[in-house]
Amino acid sequence: MVTIALYNLKGGVGKTASCVNFAYLAAADGFKTLLWDIDPQGSSSFYYKAKPKVHPGIKKLITKDALLENAILSSDFELLDVIPADNSSKSFDIMLEEMKGNKNRLKGVLKQLEKEYDFVFIDCPPGFSALSENIFHAADIVLMPVIPTTLSIRTYNMVKDYFKEKDVDMAKMMCFFTMADLRKNMHNELIQELNKDKRFFQNFIPYLSDVEKMGIHKAPIMEFANSSYAAKCYRELWTEIKEGVLE
Ligand SMILES: Nc1ncnc2c1ncn2[C@@H]1O[C@H](COP(=O)(O)OP(=O)(O)OP(=O)(O)O)[C@@H](O)[C@H]1O
Ligand SMILES: [Mg+2]
Repeated sequence: MVTIALYNLKGGVGKTASCVNFAYLAAADGFKTLLWDIDPQGSSSFYYKAKPKVHPGIKKLITKDALLENAILSSDFELLDVIPADNSSKSFDIMLEEMKGNKNRLKGVLKQLEKEYDFVFIDCPPGFSALSENIFHAADIVLMPVIPTTLSIRTYNMVKDYFKEKDVDMAKMMCFFTMADLRKNMHNELIQELNKDKRFFQNFIPYLSDVEKMGIHKAPIMEFANSSYAAKCYRELWTEIKEGVLE
């Protein structure tokens, strides 16, 4: 089982859009896949129309003897399951409290799924917290979408510093450019500069309105615009990530 957390300290960079598309592509490739929407905003759950009738509550999910399988729903797509978000702010606070005491709590919980799934994708909220620390320790890969702008580079460096401070394996941190506009000199220059870091995949996601339309269709891009350029970019990036991960 490979756990990939879509994360960035910065909000609105394409974590959810990417998580939803990668999970779809992994399942379409024949891998048993789970998407865990751990962000109380519930955006991935929205795209997958996943709403539990009775949610066990995230607090229960992360306690030691919790049964994660009670929270898992099947999606409309073969081989793809979803744990929808728990959007109650109270239970989110309680979960953070639990995680403050144990940076490996999430890692322990995910162990239950080891035999069930090939890929687990976690859609993370932005920011640093006890949750992000738990996610960094639990994930095999912390996959960061990075917009090639000055402020994004600043947050990218802050995440690197945080990894060092919290003693997280830097090799887990992998990145790709998103919302890139190659007509802009600044985007080109920053992409070249950051590529020196050897942490970025070669394929990237440009700024494309088809990605925004996922909100209208409430679906991964391949479901409503499979022959679009945006779908092609996501497919090629996923292939590169998959090969990098499974090698
Ligand atoms: N490549 C892209 N081109 C154009 N628009 C995009 C692209 N990627 C994402 N978007 C749009 O940008 C907005 C933010 O994307 P998304 O919700 O995926 O970001 P996020 O990082 O998950 O945000 P949050 O931090 O709030 O969870 C959405 O409206 C989405 O449709
Ligand atoms: Mg999001």
